[in-house]
Amino acid sequence: MHFKHKLFYIMSGGLGVLALQVFFLLFAGSATAEDIVKRGKYLVDITGCHDCHTPMKEGPEGAPVPDETLLLAGHPVGVPYPIWTPEDLKNRNTMAMFGPQLTVAAGPWGVSFATNLTPDKQTGMADTDHFKWTEEAFIQAIRTGKHHGQPNGRDILPPMPWPAYKHATDEDLKAIWAYLKTLKPIKNKVPEPVPPAAPPAKKE
Ligand code: HEC
Repeated sequence: MHFKHKLFYIMSGGLGVLALQVFFLLFAGSATAEDIVKRGKYLVDITGCHDCHTPMKEGPEGAPVPDETLLLAGHPVGVPYPIWTPEDLKNRNTMAMFGPQLTVAAGPWGVSFATNLTPDKQTGMADTDHFKWTEEAFIQAIRTGKHHGQPNGRDILPPMPWPAYKHATDEDLKAIWAYLKTLKPIKNKVPEPVPPAAPPAKKE
């Protein structure tokens, strides 16, 4: 083969690869908004967000199942939280107690209520009167364990497993955020945490 011909073959091969790369970048590589939401739902379903953020109802044989009508709406306003004494926890060999719908937990950190993750304009994870939730704030909250993702915010309390979720990639957290935006907004004003210094524990 002539040198010129060889060069032609190499170059046309190279161009072919380039064309393929451009094709993949343009079409195969770019996930659609729908794909991203689908991935977000998948991640939320397998990472257990419903366990705490979707109130449970009684399922077959008394086992709790998520109440689909309150998907990720957080601790339902007005549902009582556990009352205990430090002795109760010790005597029962437990660190924490959960409320009747698994959306509130009481332990040495006080009482923490699972947040409303739906995009309700007044009470959810949206541009509300008291805080403007953004994708960035959401990612920072999960990454840093700080309330609202603010560097000077209070610590996000247990049992929110942010120390595990902080290892998620930006891409995955963005997908979760995109899915949460598509939820049915549910009006539910979740209470502020009760500090351990003002224990809800019944006085002895
Ligand atoms: C084991 C229970 C539990 C699981 C599982 C859980 N959360 Fe939470 N989450 C909580 C509790 C409780 C709070 C409230 C903590 C507080 O008030 O400091 C919370 C708070 C939050 C907050 C608000 C943080 C802030 O700025 O105050 C976000 C956002 C959040 N969770 C997202 C998620 C997502 C997304 C998932 C699934 C990937 C998830 N949570 C799984 C219990 C849980």
